[in-house]
Amino acid sequence: MSRIVYVNGEFLPEDEAKISVFDRGFLFADAIYEVSTVLQGKLVDNAAHLARLQRSVDALNMGLPCSLEEIEAIQLEMLKRNDINEGGLYLQVTRGAADRDFAFPKDSKPSLVMFTQSRPVIDTAAAQNGISVVTTPDIRWQRRDIKTVGLLPASMAKQTALDAGANDAWLVEDGFITEGTSNNAHIVTKDGVLLTRALSNKILHGITRKAVLALAEETGITVEERSFTPDEVSNAAEAFITSASMFVTPVVTFNGEPIADGKPGKVAKRLRELYIAFALKSLK
Ligand code: PDD
Repeated sequence: MSRIVYVNGEFLPEDEAKISVFDRGFLFADAIYEVSTVLQGKLVDNAAHLARLQRSVDALNMGLPCSLEEIEAIQLEMLKRNDINEGGLYLQVTRGAADRDFAFPKDSKPSLVMFTQSRPVIDTAAAQNGISVVTTPDIRWQRRDIKTVGLLPASMAKQTALDAGANDAWLVEDGFITEGTSNNAHIVTKDGVLLTRALSNKILHGITRKAVLALAEETGITVEERSFTPDEVSNAAEAFITSASMFVTPVVTFNGEPIADGKPGKVAKRLRELYIAFALKSLK
């Protein structure tokens, strides 16, 4: 069955949808995106994603084609029209179409595009068995806090990891881990402290990260927000990633070596359970 996608005011079968060759998302990666997870046909923690969408477009002086309330109404309509139960809803706003020029056009109308992806979120092999990661240099730009579609460096890092037989890459800059290719990186030290990099322009301010850190603190886990090195990962008791699409997923192998006993850690498992409960409560 062909999906129904949303493009600038229309719900269309995916093979009928069109976007201009002159769209600045296409020519300059002049676009912002969000991925909200779908569980039970509803959106997880969507208000937080919409708030970040607003923050990202503001940072680029890019307008939205309609209000956040209207965007959410379109999102919900997309879930209905695609009859999706579990997976993701991708949303992208671009600065719109204008003749190619590096300067921001004065009068372009922002484009809004959405599509759904149906896939398991709760019951996955990655959640059950954990994933393997390798390090690669972080060659991305310096405004990683803005969720733009300029994802080629992240895509290259992911491919490097896959070519090395791993599931994902953790990116390294100035000797410290920044984050995963499309997720935030966390470790638990042998003393039981959850270490995660502090928020700055160096990482995306993950919606899942924020919720998981709050849940960790509520359950009495000590959280320290500071940068950590690849050596600290190798010597950690456990490691895990957070993202809208992977929730909390354990990392069990780092640069080809097992982390601790090479099995998903207790803290990661517990935080995944707590996050799933939180996600179910947040459904809209
Ligand atoms: N990725 N860091 C990066 C670089 C990301 O691309 C993402 C999200 C995250 C986690 O953020 P959140 O918890 O808000 O999803 C961290 C999405 C899922 C993606 O690109 O598909």
